[in-house]
Amino acid sequence: MRNWIVAGNWKMHNTIAESVSLAQAIKEATTAVKNGEVVVAPPFTALHSVSETLKGSAVKLAAQNMYPEDKGAFTGEVSPLMLKDAGCAFVIVGHSERRKYFNESDNQINLKVRKALTTGLKPIVCVGETDGERNSGVTQAVVNRQVRKALDGVGVGQMDRLVVAYEPVWAIGTGKVATPEQANDVHDFIRRLLVEIYGCAGADVRILYGGSVTKDNIAELITIEDIDGALVGGASLKADAFLGIISKMP
Ligand code: 13P
Repeated sequence: MRNWIVAGNWKMHNTIAESVSLAQAIKEATTAVKNGEVVVAPPFTALHSVSETLKGSAVKLAAQNMYPEDKGAFTGEVSPLMLKDAGCAFVIVGHSERRKYFNESDNQINLKVRKALTTGLKPIVCVGETDGERNSGVTQAVVNRQVRKALDGVGVGQMDRLVVAYEPVWAIGTGKVATPEQANDVHDFIRRLLVEIYGCAGADVRILYGGSVTKDNIAELITIEDIDGALVGGASLKADAFLGIISKMP
């Protein structure tokens, strides 16, 4: 049995005050949530304040990125120890915006995944094809490469803390959500890959769908066997929209 996760990736939005007020609204409205986890990923500047706000609730905190070293001369970067210190349980790794705008490679993403796991953070590893890749019929090849490289050197004993997010790049922020069939194909593919590499431990990994998720399209997606929740961008910035998605979880 896999518990669902609904995670809100706030990206580069929200001041500290805005973050705290959004977190407070989510905290108050999710006290009765069962069988799943609600996660919010505010910007770095708001992590600690949001962590204080979420105390006494089951809502978990995630960072949107990290640098794969404990500390050192890495100006502008934030370490996994600092994220834990700020109250994070999860960290998003390899988001397509990081791959695209900051040239994050599969190798760097692999270092981050491994470091997050050894530090005790749960990585939410993002994979997904671009529009061009889908149109050229290489979706599975791309996702295969991204998953295998991200998990290179990751052991079977770490599977219980791994989360994978399938986020087709063409669906992010476009309002063009993957059809249930498209999502099912790739989630099923990722599941088979995880089981091929990790045996039954791979069957327990949560695989989230991300890309233009709203309260109106999640109900159908969440009925799909290998969709274990959602990674939400735009619709996570307003409490009502985010809570509407959570209300559709089984
Ligand atoms: P949207 O929900 O805004 O499409 O963003 C998805 C995303 O990138 C979550 O990480």
